[in-house]
Amino acid sequence: MPAALSHDATTGTWLLTTPSTSYALRVDGQGVPRHVHWGGPLTLADVASLPPAGAGPRSSFDGRPATSEELTVDGADRYGPPALRVRFADGTRALTWQADGHEQPAPGTLLLHFRDPHYPLRTTLGYRVHPDTDVIERWTELTHTGIASDPDDTPGDDILALRADSATLSLPPREDYRLGHAVGQWAAETQLRRTSLPYGETVLTSRTGTTSHRAQPWTILDAGDATEEHGQVWSAALAWSGSWQITLQRAPDNQLSLNLGAGHDAVTVTLRPGETHTTPPVLLLHVAEGGFGALSRAWHRHLRAQVLPHPQETRPVLYNSWEATGFGVTLDNQRQLASLAAGLGVELFVMDDGWFGARRDDHAGLGDWTPYPGAFPDGLRPLADEVHRLGMAFGLWVEPEMVNPDSDLYRAHPDWVLHFPHRPRTELRHQLVLNFARPDVAAWAFDRLTRLVADNDVDYLKWDMNRPFSEAGWPDEPSGRGDRLWFDHVRGYHTLVDRLRAAHPRLRIEACSGGGGRVDPAVLARTDQVWISDNTDAADRLVIQHGYAQLYPVRTMAAWVTDVPNQQTGRSIPLRFRFHSAMSGVLGIGGDLTRWRPQELKEAEQLVAEYKTVRHLVQHGELFRLRPPGDLQSLTAVQYLAPDAAEAAVFAWLPQPRFGLAPAPLRLAGLPRDAHYRDLRSGRVHSGAALRERGLDLDLPHEDWASTVVHLVRI
Ligand code: GLA
Repeated sequence: MPAALSHDATTGTWLLTTPSTSYALRVDGQGVPRHVHWGGPLTLADVASLPPAGAGPRSSFDGRPATSEELTVDGADRYGPPALRVRFADGTRALTWQADGHEQPAPGTLLLHFRDPHYPLRTTLGYRVHPDTDVIERWTELTHTGIASDPDDTPGDDILALRADSATLSLPPREDYRLGHAVGQWAAETQLRRTSLPYGETVLTSRTGTTSHRAQPWTILDAGDATEEHGQVWSAALAWSGSWQITLQRAPDNQLSLNLGAGHDAVTVTLRPGETHTTPPVLLLHVAEGGFGALSRAWHRHLRAQVLPHPQETRPVLYNSWEATGFGVTLDNQRQLASLAAGLGVELFVMDDGWFGARRDDHAGLGDWTPYPGAFPDGLRPLADEVHRLGMAFGLWVEPEMVNPDSDLYRAHPDWVLHFPHRPRTELRHQLVLNFARPDVAAWAFDRLTRLVADNDVDYLKWDMNRPFSEAGWPDEPSGRGDRLWFDHVRGYHTLVDRLRAAHPRLRIEACSGGGGRVDPAVLARTDQVWISDNTDAADRLVIQHGYAQLYPVRTMAAWVTDVPNQQTGRSIPLRFRFHSAMSGVLGIGGDLTRWRPQELKEAEQLVAEYKTVRHLVQHGELFRLRPPGDLQSLTAVQYLAPDAAEAAVFAWLPQPRFGLAPAPLRLAGLPRDAHYRDLRSGRVHSGAALRERGLDLDLPHEDWASTVVHLVRI
């Protein structure tokens, strides 16, 4: 295996090598970092002789191409979208590159330093490659190298970054480009869209202060010719849980570049002398062959191996009280649900919203994290003990970053929320956002949560975040730079989760934000699973899960079986289909079990038991999307294959069969051709080749909402 980092000093070219891709850049004779290559494997000699991206004749009418720099800066003859746009104290806005050496502080890590020839700004481009993944990390550090003398120094010396992206990426020129991305809204998150990339600038963004329901901070790009199984694909994801922006630029000559970074259009960074701003990392991934399916599997492998806190753990079957008891939780109704859930084989019981403060609906109580005495006169301990006695872990819902104005916390600390001095405080869901950039607020939250966990033997927190920012101000920020909170609130959230985990190593955390409003690689780095949508309709969920799993491992994708008619869509889908939909992720149950008929409880118990026989494949196997979700008349199917191909689980759903016809045999993927597999349902044995070429008979029942799970074991 060639060295991860190699350098050709004659041309100034750097080559980053991963197991199956290469990335190259060059610091040219003028000291400008130029992009050279991102794609299939090339040698140092290959890339040293390649021209940089965007090279070639250009007219003086057009200016410099946007694809040329590793971080597109503002100024001179550049007219594309800048990834780094600074304004110095005297009003000068253009940045000039001057190479200032490099460092390799750790194996696989490269830091390229640049300084401005006149102003006190150092720009560092960071790169990291790992030996066992094709994912490359990139980030940028900006340092004000002026002397940090008096902290009350005049703000006139500050350097203002109007845009401070993590990286610019360039793709090799192709005749066409297609953009894959996820769009959404509350209860309809992560819907995958693939569109031909328009010429001009395309902006994907979140302005909410969170990753957002509306868009995901990742892109999947191909030349318009990739399929689920074939073709070359490039992808990038920003590991950031706040506002963000991805700007793609497709030039008329089909040069494509993209800038990715934290903060939306209005968010700036002010650097005082001596300060450094480090951007969040962008993760880059290219697959040379194998299409969108291979790309997803490579993302999943990377996130499992390098990012998830406990990738080897199998997530338990969960029960959550939200749809059953809403805000009306009591010791009695939770005990009753816990007992029924334990009878079904549930392993983790989570009491959702409503257990604290004066929380009887969404108007009051957020911020007061002590049990509501009317429902829990002796605190939470009796319930926690009962849940443990039933053999389940005990989980609790919290929303630490939020406060209702009608709460003791807000009455004591009205200045702790995001606000502007002369503006009303806009409430959404009757709540305001606590400013987690403030050290006193972060300290309060840690104290509350750590005591809650320790005092009640809490094994699991569902950490919610139910509204976006508004009036995002911090009027009494000591240095007058309230805008910091766009970054520092997010860092405060990350740090708090990290501290809690360190203080309680057995604690597991579910990420939630009104469903899937805050999920990204930085959230996955510090949580164990994600509540990906408040929409629990089993058919809609297949669409949402399809988009989620383009990047994120199914091992993190929580899914519940809830009651019918569904609370979000009003649709009634049979229990079995609901289970099969949720069983293709991390199974949970969220219905009111006290209203389930004995027959339903029995069927549920069997399905939970069945899930336990295949969940090692769902959670730790490789995902093959055999049929994407389409209209209700079409078959949807996924396959999970054990890493050693010894077993596979196939899930198939057909909501409304047409003409009473059975679907064609389903062709499976990834199985060794000469292996033989027994279908544990029917006992039939098939060769891998037959399953791939002819396909598996699904034997779906002739009815609406038909679904099946097939477990294949190699013999
Ligand atoms: C959000 C979550 C739900 C539930 C409620 C409680 O909407 O997504 O699952 O926890 O909050 O208020």
